[in-house]
Amino acid sequence: MLELTPDQLLSTTRAVRKRLDLSRPVERSLLEECLRLAQQAPTGSYRQDWHFLVVTDARLREGLADLWREGAEKYLAGVGDPDAIPGMMGRVLGGVFHLRDHLHEVPVHVIPCIEGRTDGKSVFAQASRWGSIMPAAWSFMLAARARGLGTVWTTFHLFREEAAAGLLGIPFESVMQAALIPVAYTVGTEFKPAVRSPLDTFVHWDRW
Ligand SMILES: Cc1cc2nc3c(=O)[nH]c(=O)nc-3n(C[C@H](O)[C@H](O)[C@H](O)COP(=O)(O)O)c2cc1C
Repeated sequence: MLELTPDQLLSTTRAVRKRLDLSRPVERSLLEECLRLAQQAPTGSYRQDWHFLVVTDARLREGLADLWREGAEKYLAGVGDPDAIPGMMGRVLGGVFHLRDHLHEVPVHVIPCIEGRTDGKSVFAQASRWGSIMPAAWSFMLAARARGLGTVWTTFHLFREEAAAGLLGIPFESVMQAALIPVAYTVGTEFKPAVRSPLDTFVHWDRW
């Protein structure tokens, strides 16, 4: 376990792409610790109908990375050389391009899933379903960081969600995938808090 206070953990669990150690395997027991902590998160109506698909098989990771790349190409169409883009956006895109080229090499892909599809449903239904998996997935990422593992929330493969479901045997008609979280040990364990906007630009007291 890293020596991090709760505030340090919350402020330094960054999107890790370039500093994922692709050569070091991740122990199953460590992933299970993180998953047990994820299970402590809240779910709507105490249904606990979440699922985590942990993908370590190299051929399946290759297949997922191909689908992820297809989504990334769509999303990134028109983005030129990230090195030519100034500031934070250029840095983030540099990381995204790096992950695109190496995702299949990341030793573990975790796909948090939730039972019940919300396609075309009310905001209440959508918020209740997505809100029943997002806190658990984020808890998983925090627990991973506390143990020296790096993660990044990604959604590109969801452009091809049904194909990913087919690849992994997920019952697409009744289960939604929320993300694909690459997991690996980090190269070094020091991460800094990100620069964020001042509170008054996004916090509203009493009235919008
Ligand atoms: C809903 C959501 C979807 C995201 N999808 C992707 C993605 O598909 N690929 C990716 O590389 N990063 C993705 N990210 C990560 C963000 O691009 C961004 O890097 C991250 O939130 C900023 O992390 P940082 O503040 O630690 O740098 C996603 C994040 C969120 C919350």
